[in-house]
Amino acid sequence: METVIARGVVKRYGAETVLRGIDLTLREGEVVTIRGRSGSGKTTLCRLLTLLDRPDEGALMVLGLNAREASDDEASRLRLEKIGYVDQYYTLIPWLTVFKNVELPLTLLGIPRSERVSRVREVLEMLGLGRKLDSYPHQLSGGERQRVAIARAIVKRPRLIVADEPFSSLDDETSSLVAEVFRRMAREDGCAVLITTTDLSLSLGSRTYMLKRGCLVQCT
Ligand SMILES: Nc1ncnc2c1ncn2[C@@H]1O[C@H](COP(=O)(O)OP(=O)(O)OP(=O)(O)O)[C@@H](O)[C@H]1O
Ligand SMILES: [Mg+2]
Repeated sequence: METVIARGVVKRYGAETVLRGIDLTLREGEVVTIRGRSGSGKTTLCRLLTLLDRPDEGALMVLGLNAREASDDEASRLRLEKIGYVDQYYTLIPWLTVFKNVELPLTLLGIPRSERVSRVREVLEMLGLGRKLDSYPHQLSGGERQRVAIARAIVKRPRLIVADEPFSSLDDETSSLVAEVFRRMAREDGCAVLITTTDLSLSLGSRTYMLKRGCLVQCT
């Protein structure tokens, strides 16, 4: 099944057209990398795919929802239930512990406490954060914060993961660990994964595109 279908998607900020005609199909179980230089429009694209922003032109379907017609409530509901977004600045809630930050989506989804506890522990341990459950975001390194944000995005077992430069604060070994977590979610859960990067040599998964002059060009 197609998780994302984008055809001729255009996004403008005032007079500036950032995305000029994005064509992309992302299917269940696929991992796709989008490379692009700073300012090329990666975050803009991520915000469309997670329904935080809407296209100005073109067609965009995300998990069966028409991004140009859906209400804000429908978009929020879909995002909560089925989309895991790791935003570029891995924003965490400063007054909540690591555990509580990662637990939050499960609480909002009404998942019972015992299951919440086991799932939160499992993902945090998987990402090497088993000893940081009670820390607050300001007590963590940048790379640790980034992994907490990744944990929060995957803990609900989403159908679509959009990770905007998820390796930007990680060393090579930790990046490989996180990459393997994404691949496993695609392989075992059939989740569709899209990651962006400014690293023009990085290629994670089955297809890689370059975002250039507002369009996607397939590299591999
Ligand atoms: N809210 C906004 N209002 C006006 N212009 C914006 C807005 N958001 C982004 N832009 C512009 O759109 C272009 C693409 O920005 P975007 O953040 O998508 O790039 P990016 O590829 O994610 O860059 P980086 O690698 O630095 O994060 C930039 O020229 C930016 O100035
Ligand atoms: Mg960006």
